[in-house]
Amino acid sequence: MDRIAVRGKRPLSGTVTISGMKNAALPILYACVLVNGVCTIENVPNVRDVTMSIDILRDMGATVKEVAGNTFEIDCRPVKQGTSNDELVKKLRASYYLLGAELGRFGRARVSMPGGCNFGGSRPIDQHIKGFEALGATVRTAGEVVEVEAPGGVVGDDVFFDTVTVGGTINIMLASVTAKGNTLIENAAREPHIVDLANFLNTCGAKISGAGTDVIRIRGVKELRGSRYAIIPDMIEAGTYMVAAAATGGCVRIENVIPKHLEAVTAKLEDIGAIVEEADDAVIVTGRERLNATRIKTRPYPGFPTDMHPQMSALLTRAHGTSIVVEGVYENRFKYADELKKMGADITVNGHTAVISEVEELHGAEVEAVDLRAGVAMIIAGLIADGETTITNINYIERGYDDVVGKLRRLGADIETVRD
Ligand code: EPZ
Repeated sequence: MDRIAVRGKRPLSGTVTISGMKNAALPILYACVLVNGVCTIENVPNVRDVTMSIDILRDMGATVKEVAGNTFEIDCRPVKQGTSNDELVKKLRASYYLLGAELGRFGRARVSMPGGCNFGGSRPIDQHIKGFEALGATVRTAGEVVEVEAPGGVVGDDVFFDTVTVGGTINIMLASVTAKGNTLIENAAREPHIVDLANFLNTCGAKISGAGTDVIRIRGVKELRGSRYAIIPDMIEAGTYMVAAAATGGCVRIENVIPKHLEAVTAKLEDIGAIVEEADDAVIVTGRERLNATRIKTRPYPGFPTDMHPQMSALLTRAHGTSIVVEGVYENRFKYADELKKMGADITVNGHTAVISEVEELHGAEVEAVDLRAGVAMIIAGLIADGETTITNINYIERGYDDVVGKLRRLGADIETVRD
C-alpha cells in the first residue's frame, strides 16, 4: 500500500507556489455542463478530485482537452442528461453539483448519492433539496439515487437556507442561472470559491450579484456562452503550508495567494506567536521553536476554516499551555485525534470540542490518513516529531493536494512517497 514517510525536526525554508483551489475548480468544472460553448479553464490543480470529475464529464460525453499545463478546454455540449456513471460519482461528493447543473440545463437530473470524506455522522443534502423544491422541482430519493425534475423548466424564486451550506449554495446557483425569472439565495455561503463560481458564470453571460455576501441575486438568462477563466489560488493549501512553516519553526514564502482569503489563519498564527508578513500575492511565515496555545472555533467563511482545523491541532500538540479546538461546522471531524495520540499527543475529544495539552515532544509512528485534511495534519505532525512517521491511506491526501511531497521536499523536508 502506498504511504508517505517523513522524518521530523527539520525547519522548513524557501518558497512554495500554491495551486488552483480544488473547491473552486470542482463547481466550475460541473458548471460547464450549463454552457453552450467551449470553456478554457486555467490554473486547474492537479488533484484526484479534479481528475475524477474530468473523467465523469468525459464519460457523459464531454470533450475535455489539456491544452497547456493546468489549462483545460471543456466542451459539454455533447453531454447527455442522466448519464453520469454511478460508480464514478459515488467516489466524489462534489459530483452532486451535477444535480444543479443538469437540472438547470435539462430540467431534470439523476445522480447517485455523493461520497467524499465522511467526518463521522451524515453529510445531508436536505438544504439542496429544499432549494430545488423552491425552484419548482420535485425531488425523489430512491436508495442511493437522487432524482430532481422540473418538467416545465426551473422557475426562479427565493431560497432561504436554514444552515449555511457551500454545496447547497453552489447547487442552487447552478440550477437557477438559466432559469425563468430571478432567484434570491438568502443565508448563502460566503466562501471565496462561491465568488469564483459566480465570476466564472458571469464571464459566460450569467447575471449573478452578491456572491461573497449572504444574499446572492441571480437573474435567469437564456444561454451561457463559452469563456476563458482562471481558478483562484487554494486558500486551504496555502493555510496548510503556513501552519507547517510555523509548526517547524521555519521561514517560508508562500506565493500565488490572495492574502485576504487567509486572514483568519494569519490572525490565529500571529495569536500563537508566529510572524506573518503580507505581500501582494504572497505571505511569508516565520515560526519559532515553541508557539503558544490558543482557542479555535471553526465557522463558515470568513471565520476560521473547518478545513484548517486538523492542521492547527497538529501544531498545537507542542504549543505552550492548553488549547481548545471547537468544530463549529461538522458533527464530528476529530477522527484524526486517535492518530495524533499514537505519536504521543495529549488530546481529549468530547463532542464538538478537543482539548490539546502541551507535550515535550511527538515521536514518529505508523498512522493513517482518516480524511483529506486529517491526512495532511499527520504530515505536519510528522514534520515536527522526533523520528520517522509513516502515513497510510494517502489516496485521501492526493485527492486535494497537488504534489504535497514534492513541494515539502523543496522546502527542505525529509519526506518521500513509498509506492508498494
Ligand atoms: C464543502 O463541503 C467543501 N467541499 C468541504 O471541504 C468544506 O469542509 C465545506 O464545504 C465547508 O466549508 C467541497 O467544496 C468539495 P457544507 P460541503 O454543505 O459543501 C451541513 C475539503 O476538505 N449541511 O457547507 O459538503 C453539513 O452537514 C472538504 O476540501 C446540512 O445540514 O459543506 C455540514 O455540517 C471537506 N444540510 C455543514 O452544513 C445540507 O443540505 C456544512 O456543509 C448541506 C449541508
